Amino acid sequence: MARDFPPLKNDLLLRAARGEKTERVPVWVMRQAGRYLPEFRKVREHHDFFEICRTPELAAKVTLQPIERYEGLLDAAIIFSDILVIPQAMGLQVDMVPGKGPQVPNPLVTPEDMRRLRKKVDVHQELGYAFDAITLTRHRLEGRVPLIGFVGGPWTLMSYMVEGGSSKQWARVKSWIFQYPEESHVLLQRITDVCVDFLVGQVHAGAQMLQVFESWAGELSPQDFEQFSLPYLKQIAQRVKSELDINDAAVPMTVFAKGAWYAIESLSDIGYDTISLDWTVSPSYARTVTKGRVTLQGNLDPGVLLGGEEAIERETERMVREFGSSRRYIANLGHGIMQQVPVEAMEVFLKTVHRVGREIAAKEEEA
Ligand code: CP3
Repeated sequence: MARDFPPLKNDLLLRAARGEKTERVPVWVMRQAGRYLPEFRKVREHHDFFEICRTPELAAKVTLQPIERYEGLLDAAIIFSDILVIPQAMGLQVDMVPGKGPQVPNPLVTPEDMRRLRKKVDVHQELGYAFDAITLTRHRLEGRVPLIGFVGGPWTLMSYMVEGGSSKQWARVKSWIFQYPEESHVLLQRITDVCVDFLVGQVHAGAQMLQVFESWAGELSPQDFEQFSLPYLKQIAQRVKSELDINDAAVPMTVFAKGAWYAIESLSDIGYDTISLDWTVSPSYARTVTKGRVTLQGNLDPGVLLGGEEAIERETERMVREFGSSRRYIANLGHGIMQQVPVEAMEVFLKTVHRVGREIAAKEEEA
C-alpha cells in the first residue's frame, strides 16, 4: 500500500513530545477505542477481538471510532491492537475471553518450555497484518491527528507468557525471576528483540509516535525493576532510534511503567521523550524529579470519569494546572478508560483539558 500519506493537520502531540511550545495542551486517552463506546461493542458482536486486530479494515474502522465521535477533541489516534500479539508471534496461543481478559492456554511453565517458542521471529511474516492496519489507518485519518503505535514491555509480556493470563500475585513469574534468573533474562531478551523489530516496522508502516506499555512494572520491587525491566526498556528506546534512519528517528517514544513511581527519575534518562504516569504520582513530584528533561503524560485516575460532570471538571482542572505548563505535557488518564464510563463523561474530560490547557498557554504567552 502506498506510503504517501496526507499531510498532518494537527501536530500538537508531536510538538509536546519534542518539548516545543503548544498553543494548547494535547490530549488522548489510553483504550480510547474500547468497550465504553457503543459503536465498538457493536463491532465486537460480530467479530472476535483478535480478528479485529488481524483485519486491517476492521482495525482502521475501530481506531477511527473515537476520533469521529469526539471530532476535534482528540489529538491522537492509537492503532487498535493488543500487547499480546507479540507472544502470539513468538508461537504462543492467546485468546481474548469475554469477562476474563487474555488467556494463554499453554503458558511457559519451566524454562524448557521456551523451546516451544519460535527461535527467529520474522515480524513481517507474523505481524504484517499490524503494519497493513497502520498504513491503512494513516490514510483513513487523512492527517487529522498523528497515529500512535505500541508494544508491551518485556517484563509485562513475560508475565502473561508465564502466568497464562492476568494474575493477582504473579506467583509463577515471580518464581521464574527468583528461581531461574538467567533463563528469565534469556526470555526477556528474546521478547525485547521482537519488540524492537515490531516498533521499527510500525514506524516504517506509518506510526508517528510509539508507546511501550510496561503495565505490570509496579509488581516489581525497585531493585528487581532495575534488573528485569529497566535495562530492556532502555534497549528498546536505543535500538529503535538507532535502527530508524534520520527522518524516522525523530518519531517520539513514550514509556508507561505503571506503578513504578520510584523509577521516574531513571526512566527520564534512558532515551524516551515522554513518560506516561499513573495516578499514584503527583504531577508536581514528577516534574521535580524529571527536571524538565522529558515530556510528561497522564495522569487522571480513570475512576474520576465515573464521578459525574462536576467531579470530572474539578479533578481534570486540578490535574492540568498541577502539571503547571503547556510545555512538555500531554493530558491523558493514568491507565485505560473503564468500560463503565458514559460516553458523555469522556467528552467532559476532553473539553475540560481543552479549556484549561488553552488558558495556561495563553497566560504563558502573556508572561
Ligand atoms: O484504544 C487503545 O488504547 C488501543 C488498543 C489497545 C488495547 N489494548 C485494546 C483492548 C491497547 C493499547 C492495549 C494494550 C494492552 N493490552 C495493555 C497495556 C495497557 C494497559 O491496559 O495496561 C495490556 C496490559 C493489554 C492486555 C489486555 N488486553 C488485557 C489485560 C485485557 C483485558 C482487560 C479488559 O479491559 O478487558 C485486554 C483486552 C482489550 N484490549 C480490550 C481492548 C479494547 C477489551 C477486550 C474486548 O473487546 O473484549
